[in-house]
Amino acid sequence: MTRTVYVNGEYLPETEATVSIFDRGFLMADAVYEVTSVLGGKLIDFDGHAVRLKRSLDELDMAEPCTKDELLEIHRKLVELNGIEEGMVYLQVTRGSDGDRDFVFPSDDTKPTLVLFTQNKPGLANSPAAQKGIRVISIDDIRWGRRDIKTTQLLYPSLGKMMAKKAGADDAWMTEDGYVTEGTSNNAYFVKNGKIVTRPLSNDILHGITRKAVLRMAAEAQMVVEERLFTIDEAKEADEAFVTSASTFVMPVVEIDGAQLGDGAPGPIAKRLREIYLEESLKAAV
Ligand code: PDD
Repeated sequence: MTRTVYVNGEYLPETEATVSIFDRGFLMADAVYEVTSVLGGKLIDFDGHAVRLKRSLDELDMAEPCTKDELLEIHRKLVELNGIEEGMVYLQVTRGSDGDRDFVFPSDDTKPTLVLFTQNKPGLANSPAAQKGIRVISIDDIRWGRRDIKTTQLLYPSLGKMMAKKAGADDAWMTEDGYVTEGTSNNAYFVKNGKIVTRPLSNDILHGITRKAVLRMAAEAQMVVEERLFTIDEAKEADEAFVTSASTFVMPVVEIDGAQLGDGAPGPIAKRLREIYLEESLKAAV
C-alpha cells in the first residue's frame, strides 16, 4: 500500500516525495529525528517528543521548521490519512540545502527540511518479543560524544544491531570505559533484589522519553530506582533486565552475552512496568 507522507508542507504519495541530493541530512547526517508511537490511533507522549526535538535543534543551532501545534496537526493528519491504529510516526528535520556541498553551514535563510512518515505496526502493544523477552550482546560504544542529541548518525547503532543478529541475538548494549551506556536504539536497565538500576542522564546517552515516563511510573508504583553507572558483569548477574523506547515500550531482556537472567523468562518488574506504561500512556495519548 502506498503511504501518504509529508515533505516540506505537502502531503504526497511516498513514491512522489523527494528531497534534494544536496540536502545536508543526506550528505552529512546534519539532521535530527523523533519517533512517536501510535496506539489506538493516538500519539503517545507527543509533548515529550516535541520538547526533545526543540532541544536537539537548539543544541545544533538549527531552525525550527514549524510550531509545535503545526507539528501535532501534521502527525495527526498522517495517522488519519494512513489509517494507523498501532505503529509509529517518524519525523526528521535537516539543516536543508543551499544547492551545493559545503562543510560550512548554509546561510541563515536556508529553510530546514521537514519530513514525516508513518509506519504501520499492528500488534505493537502485544508483540511476541515482549512475551518472550529479547537476548542482547555487549559491544564497544564508539559513537560521538553528544548522544543526548537525537541525530540521524545511526550507522554504528545499525552495525551494532547487525553484530547482534550475527551472534544470534536480538540487540546490543554498548559499553564505554567498562560501563553500559545504552542499547542501540533504547535505554538499558537491570533489576537486582527488587531495585531498578539504570545509567544517569548525561551527554553519553539519549534522554529517552519512554525512560522518563517509566521512571516516573516506577516511582509512583513504589518501586526503587537507582540511577548509576553499571557494568555488563553486574547486569549478567541480575534477576531481570529490560530496555525502553518509543517503539518497544518496556521490552524484557532475558539473556546478556549468553548468560540467562533469572529463569530465562521476562521478569515480574519488566512485565508490570510494561503493563503500567501501556495503560497510563494510552490514557494520556493525544
Ligand atoms: N530510538 N537510546 C537510543 C540510542 C535511541 O535511539 C532511542 C530511541 C532511545 C529511547 O528513546 P525514546 O524512549 O525517546 O524512544 C534510547 C528510536 C525509537 C529509534 O531510533 O527508532
